[in-house]
Amino acid sequence: GSTLQDAAAESDRYFGTAIAGSRLSDTQYTTIANREFNMITAENEMKMDATEPSQNQFNYSSGDQIVNWAIGNGKQVRGHALAWHSQQPGWMQNMEGSQLRQAMLNHVTNVATHYRGKIHSWDVVNEAFADGSSGGRRDSNLQRTGNDWIEAAFRAARAADPNAQLCYNDYNTDNWSHAKTQGVYNMVRDFKSRGVPIDCVGFQAHFNSGNPVPSNYHETLQNFADLGVDVQITELDIEGSGTSQAEQYRGVVQACMAVARCQGITVWGVRDSDSWRASGTPLLFDGNGNKKAAYQYVLDQLNEA
Ligand code: G3I
Repeated sequence: GSTLQDAAAESDRYFGTAIAGSRLSDTQYTTIANREFNMITAENEMKMDATEPSQNQFNYSSGDQIVNWAIGNGKQVRGHALAWHSQQPGWMQNMEGSQLRQAMLNHVTNVATHYRGKIHSWDVVNEAFADGSSGGRRDSNLQRTGNDWIEAAFRAARAADPNAQLCYNDYNTDNWSHAKTQGVYNMVRDFKSRGVPIDCVGFQAHFNSGNPVPSNYHETLQNFADLGVDVQITELDIEGSGTSQAEQYRGVVQACMAVARCQGITVWGVRDSDSWRASGTPLLFDGNGNKKAAYQYVLDQLNEA
């Protein structure tokens, strides 16, 4: 294949990007996005604060704009994200207890219902585990509603959209030896053993010099897949430049290609200038839309399959 999406499709995988609604009027941006990627994630527009700005008053205009662009161009959509401690609307940040639990479930049900039939995979719960060595849950208002809040969210999502794959999504879960990775693994194993409806695990994969691509990445992805879930790389970006950045990208693609249940890779933006890392160069295209060395290494590795 001569594009990322075509090369990935040769092994029945997808290659995606995050899209910002505010950039859909930039033709350089949409030209690259349309040519290279076949899986679209809204960078911010389907989050809780965007879709439910006032309690029980849902606003899908920004999310719909991206979903319609994607579907209109023949692409699939990853939904991001139904329940998260961050990016909550103000009214939710001040809630707790059973009132918050009910509001969270109402949010999951309404948003998943609105997009029913249009979503390949939902990030049902995002970033619920703590950083550091505990391996436990992150403290948050949602966690304080009870440890079962995650499975409750997954059951509500399944009921609302039975055909979407339901994912748990997190960062710094790439290194098999890290406590956070083990914590998520144990939760997924428990969910599978008890029939909680989970289909996939998303690895955000935000890498930098302090958090490089681990040498055991393939092992991590395979161990999760062996639990009976699909795995996806959902928000890939790697700080750096030139050949060393390109080699790290190649390592991520290699790890995914080596795992049958790794369904695809999404990078977190199109050009370096579109990245959430304001001063960095972590993506596959430079600020002028030119292909970087990392692009060529990724394309070549996808074509190795
Ligand atoms: O749109 C407003 C604009 O009107 C306002 O003037 C401006 C002033 O701050 O803010 C703009 O909103 C910002 C938005 O990005 C759009 O640019 C928000 O402040 C800012 O918080 C938001 O950041 C996003 C961040 O998630 C929020 O958590 C990033 O774009 C987005 O890339 C990032 O994505 C996350 C994933 O959802 C979860 N995993 C980590 C990843 C990277 O942090």
